[in-house]
Amino acid sequence: MTADEQKKQVGDAAAEYVKDGMKVGLGTGSTAAWFVKALAEKVKAGMKLTLVSTSIQTTQLAESLGLVIKDINDVGVLDLCVDGADEVGPGLALIKGGGAALLREKLIWEQAKSCIVIADAAKNVPLLGKFPLPIEVEPFAWKGTVNRISDVLVDFDINMMPKVRMKGESHWITDGGNLIFDVACGAIHEPAGLAHELKSLTGVVDHGLFLDLADIALIGGEDGVTVLH
Ligand code: 5RP
Repeated sequence: MTADEQKKQVGDAAAEYVKDGMKVGLGTGSTAAWFVKALAEKVKAGMKLTLVSTSIQTTQLAESLGLVIKDINDVGVLDLCVDGADEVGPGLALIKGGGAALLREKLIWEQAKSCIVIADAAKNVPLLGKFPLPIEVEPFAWKGTVNRISDVLVDFDINMMPKVRMKGESHWITDGGNLIFDVACGAIHEPAGLAHELKSLTGVVDHGLFLDLADIALIGGEDGVTVLH
């Protein structure tokens, strides 16, 4: 089974958790896209849902499938959010932000009563950090912010410089107008401490460590979907 087949498998499985009348947050990325497609089929078949999106990319996909995306401020607390991840570690600690949507994703996740993360088997890891950790940074005075991020990383035995994410010749700009820096941490032994210290830095808008947010993970694989709690 290819990674893409597994992504479809878990996207379809997550759609089974969605019930008529729910308010649902739609994640971003190639795995979440399968969930959006599965939901579009349910809505076509008559299911009534209130949907919000975590990115412009997902809004465009959803609308192209005939779904209506509402403003989160008009919707309030969500019943469910379903989203992909770059890594799923112990305790359902996650790295997200490979698609540069981490801020809006985290805002939507935190406004949902329940969150399901969906991923192919390769993303289920014993230790976070092989996938570079994305950090969203306010563009003003970014050099100083990055120096302070580096100091924090050293405190956690991570001796890597944050690398600005590029799109061609230009800096990648997020939906919220910020920069993304990626840190090839290698291994993150203290995700909670690192998350706390990064978040406390002025200029860091947010980071891709999603801790204590996912309620379950649906992991794809040859033997079907594995549910992790
Ligand atoms: C976007 C994300 C994505 O969920 C994450 O990058 C996984 O993407 P994909 O499903 O395409 O592998 O966090 O910011």
